[in-house]
Amino acid sequence: MNVADSEVVAAILSDNYQIMTDPKSADLFLMNTCSVRDNAEQRIRKRLRELAALKKRNPQLIVGLLGCMAERLKERLLSEEHILDFIAGPDAYRTLPTLIQDASDGKHAFNVILSIQETYDDIDPIRYDGNGVSAFISIMRGCNNFCTYCVVPYTRGRERSRNPKTILHEAQQLIDKGYKEVTLLGQNVNSYHWNEEDDTIVDFAALIEMVALLSPQLRVRFATSHPKDISDSLIEKIAKHENICSYIHLPVQSGSDRMLKKMNRVYDSTYYLERIAAIKRMIPDCGITTDLIVGFCDETEEDHQDTLKMMETVGYNSAYMFKYSVRKGTKAANDFEDNVPEEMKARRFDEVLNLQQRLALESNQRDVGKTFTVLVEGVSKKSDEQLFGRNSQNKVIVFPKANHQIGDYATVTVTRCTQATLLAD
Ligand code: 5AD
Ligand code: SF4
Repeated sequence: MNVADSEVVAAILSDNYQIMTDPKSADLFLMNTCSVRDNAEQRIRKRLRELAALKKRNPQLIVGLLGCMAERLKERLLSEEHILDFIAGPDAYRTLPTLIQDASDGKHAFNVILSIQETYDDIDPIRYDGNGVSAFISIMRGCNNFCTYCVVPYTRGRERSRNPKTILHEAQQLIDKGYKEVTLLGQNVNSYHWNEEDDTIVDFAALIEMVALLSPQLRVRFATSHPKDISDSLIEKIAKHENICSYIHLPVQSGSDRMLKKMNRVYDSTYYLERIAAIKRMIPDCGITTDLIVGFCDETEEDHQDTLKMMETVGYNSAYMFKYSVRKGTKAANDFEDNVPEEMKARRFDEVLNLQQRLALESNQRDVGKTFTVLVEGVSKKSDEQLFGRNSQNKVIVFPKANHQIGDYATVTVTRCTQATLLAD
């Protein structure tokens, strides 16, 4: 999401600025930030300290901090981090030219006003750090779910969807430039909802189909889905269109019904497993991944075992795993106690990680001998003679270069695997 937002920022500033690869030669330094866990914020604070040397060498350098950390900490951040000249929250990017001007004039510059309608829908993002093959398209912003542990509804504001016409226009432009893959992005893409003037409703299932129909050569992905609204009609669309990837990231967070209730996830493990069964029934080869939080408030050993059981039952291809991190202002921070001791969180985290590594290896081993279509994304880090790309299920596959170019579709057969990668001919 921050990559996509930074591309919007680059477009907003493109009349007056160009992207530099060497920070030493920059007049303006922007950092886009994440607040979802404390360690993300600590990394930014460390980066700000490192920047001091750059600013010392070039006192004219303007330093701005963007995104969720600006939104969460507001003006107070300017007094805490003296290196900052201005801050801008996620809905304030159109005002960046003024903020930069004010900051250069020595004014205290900040804008952290959240909007109920901003989607930057008329702005064509500048894909300054892309591979020319794959791009993100932001289709909605904000979140109304208020999971009790999560700061996102406070930092990114209310949920709002972008006009489908502008989404299709952006996708078509990417196709015209030779892009082969788009990922439709939102905090919760399944609740995408647009009312046309004639009162027809475009939901996410309808939108993804419209994007897929633009070109059979374009792969379509999406992230992230909330289990509560992963509908049969969406699963059917994924099954129906060859170019909508057989891949669903479906964050479960915990396998324990008690924890899910406390997290306000509004589903239980039975419901979640029923959705997984529906996915597997309609898309038998679907890649499924998840997000997991260990050590949430009051998590018992039994709750933790339920999470391990859930992982085993679904057999996730991969997972993003996190230790619970208290976020000020959330319901969990206000009303619950962060009472799982750090060593216990660490031990449970290791158990979840170890299990996931085994599940990933087993999942990859099941693919040995299978043939996949891979979209070539680049040259392998380990060898110039090897390329890498991903299959529809979002697994990374490395294979010999032969005559293939970046952006081609290659047909490969998996010969070996590690826990992280499939190796193919
Ligand atoms: N602590 C730990 N992990 C969190 N996530 C969100 N908030 C927190 C938190 N306070 C995780 C969830 C979410 C992912 C983006 O980050 O798993 O799906
Ligand atoms: Fe946070 Fe829950 Fe919204 Fe995801 S759905 S962004 S975890 S509040």
